[in-house]
Amino acid sequence: MEPLSTNNSHAALIGVGAFLPPRRISNEDLAERMDTTDEWITTRTGIRARHWADPGIATSDLAVEAGHRALKSARLTAEPGAVDAVVLATTTPDHPCPATAPQVAARLGLGTAAAYDVAAVCTGFLYALATASAQIVAGHARRVLVIGAETYSTLLNPADRTTNVIFGDGAGAVVLEATSEADRPGVLLGVDLGSDGTRHTLITVAAGGSRQRSTPGAPDPDAHYFAMDGKKVFAQAVTRMAGSCAKVLERVGWTTDEVDHLVGHQANLRILHALSRQLGVPQRRAVVHLDQVGNTSAASVPLALADAAGRGTLGVGDRVLLTAFGGGLTWGAAALRWPDVVPA
Ligand code: UT7
Repeated sequence: MEPLSTNNSHAALIGVGAFLPPRRISNEDLAERMDTTDEWITTRTGIRARHWADPGIATSDLAVEAGHRALKSARLTAEPGAVDAVVLATTTPDHPCPATAPQVAARLGLGTAAAYDVAAVCTGFLYALATASAQIVAGHARRVLVIGAETYSTLLNPADRTTNVIFGDGAGAVVLEATSEADRPGVLLGVDLGSDGTRHTLITVAAGGSRQRSTPGAPDPDAHYFAMDGKKVFAQAVTRMAGSCAKVLERVGWTTDEVDHLVGHQANLRILHALSRQLGVPQRRAVVHLDQVGNTSAASVPLALADAAGRGTLGVGDRVLLTAFGGGLTWGAAALRWPDVVPA
């Protein structure tokens, strides 16, 4: 099948970058603070460490670093006109209002580029990639910087050991550019997005929005923390990511045998293994990065991509299948052939 296009313009990935805050928290560090063990965390999740931003560091700080590195990887100078838009996927914006992306664009020196946030929790990066690609295909933008950045450590309930051991902070970014060459490696060949709002209570931060307002002295401080029904989310994650991947594979005309690298949302190693099994993609082709960073929500897919590209795992022309799942519920998948791109 032909790549997505209405006017002979395709969106190709031309740069990738990543940034992790320096403070690394090992499983042993967590076991000193709460009732958990390295053995439980490793066997139940595959996670060995995560990075948490120091107090005072916000999502935009991580996003600027990753964005800068992606621009450098694309051999672009961060200056006005370098990109036409900055799309930032995040669940942890610097402030409820305004969006974080305009500040990121300004701090990167990108002038008056369009800039907006996308909120699709752990699927955010795929939603952002899809909207950025759509702008290019429609002819509204020639280059777009797409960033996934999170500081989940700021949302974690210190009394909830389950979420504390899973989530980490970080940022990953890619640059998309218009091209008329449909066969060029990097061209986004197919995308699928989905949602199920009937299950919106499975992953929540209950307070702070218009339904449950943030009032000083509110009776339930826990309502401001991130909460998740892990078991139900686990089952949905495998089913929805597998379904979304199958749709994209059909759209682009690849068999599962032809997938060289499966880059799934890095939530839990058991989820990645179950996804490989369900899809029929051998486990060795699944990119694993969560052992070092945990679940970084919207940053997870671009961080895993940057890590794999940096290690030389992704060869030019390799078939790469991206997929993610998160609160909303939301999910998505996308396919591309890896371009000649390494992180800066
Ligand atoms: O990013 C968006 C998508 N998110 C996900 O995909 C996350 C999906 N869910 C998961 O990855 C898993 O459900 C978790 C990792 C969150 C939890 O693993 P689980 O195997 O489902 O554990 P569980 O919640 O069923 O808990 C099993 C036991 C419980 O003890 P009892 O009741 O059996 O005595 C928990 O209290 O493990 C206990 N437990 C822990 N023990 C040590 C829960 N968290 C911990 C912990 N350390 N950190």
